[in-house]
Amino acid sequence: MKLWKMGFVGASTDEMANWVAELDADSFAIPFFGSGKEVALLAQRPDVSVESWDVQHISALAAELFTSTEVKTNIDEPKLQRGWTFKERPFEDMEDRTAGLVDYIANNGTSYERLALVTAIARCTMLGRLDQWDPLRQATSLWEFFQKRLIAQEDYINLPGSIVHHEADFYSTLPSQKFDVLYIDPPKIVSSSDVYSKNFVGLNRMVAPSTFKTIELDKWTKYDYTGKMRGVLDAVDSDLIVLAYTSGVRPGLDSMRTLFEEYGELIDEVRFLHRRRYDYGLVFRRTE
Ligand SMILES: C[S@@+](CC[C@H](N)C(=O)[O-])C[C@H]1O[C@@H](n2cnc3c(N)ncnc32)[C@H](O)[C@@H]1O
Repeated sequence: MKLWKMGFVGASTDEMANWVAELDADSFAIPFFGSGKEVALLAQRPDVSVESWDVQHISALAAELFTSTEVKTNIDEPKLQRGWTFKERPFEDMEDRTAGLVDYIANNGTSYERLALVTAIARCTMLGRLDQWDPLRQATSLWEFFQKRLIAQEDYINLPGSIVHHEADFYSTLPSQKFDVLYIDPPKIVSSSDVYSKNFVGLNRMVAPSTFKTIELDKWTKYDYTGKMRGVLDAVDSDLIVLAYTSGVRPGLDSMRTLFEEYGELIDEVRFLHRRRYDYGLVFRRTE
């Protein structure tokens, strides 16, 4: 099975996801699901159980795909509707027909179809960055990407592992059981805050039906970063803690390593070159 990808940049790299999936462990707490890249790989093993969280609606749609037993669809042909995307127009270069098609699928599609819409939208933005619509990709391209994605998603239904996902703020729905691994791939601070609360709110609202548009995403800044990390480390009981981190972000890797060493002994550190930055995977055995 290929790696699960939603089509936007920001997810963990393939190397990182594969490395995590190869850890010799059966139960995983994943407070930050994102696109679900690691979860999709881990859940291909029947002996693995994952509990995960994310504030994003698109994450919940992916988790629902992995645990669903059948493909449910409702959209047979492209139609237009005036809804949130038509009115709010989150992207400047999006034409009326494109916005209308997004609204039609968001308001009438099943969760399987709304998940396919996520990837179709991402593919219509410049380089999948979600910050600028590609003016050459309008309703026809969106519909084609959507159709292709409906077929591609079929490979990921009913994964053998067990997944319990919470569409929720991790800090307000803490777990109660113990896990083999706590895997933390947190939002990274690139300028003044993380990319999720900045660029992903529009995408989440676009694919949610009109009755559910109040999605807010947790904003991470360098001022509350350490507190948020401690909040995760204190809340989850596990034998191992794995941190997925990146060079060139704030706080730097060294201060994260020092913080995590308060909770456990560093037993492994890997590094993957990713374009002009490095991705790091750090494994700690809990001492407290
Ligand atoms: C770096 S991403 C995880 C990427 C993931 N490993 C992947 O491959 O797609 C971090 C995620 O944390 C989520 N997040 C931020 N604050 C959160 C919170 N308080 N509770 C749950 N999830 C949160 C963001 O929505 C984002 O999806």
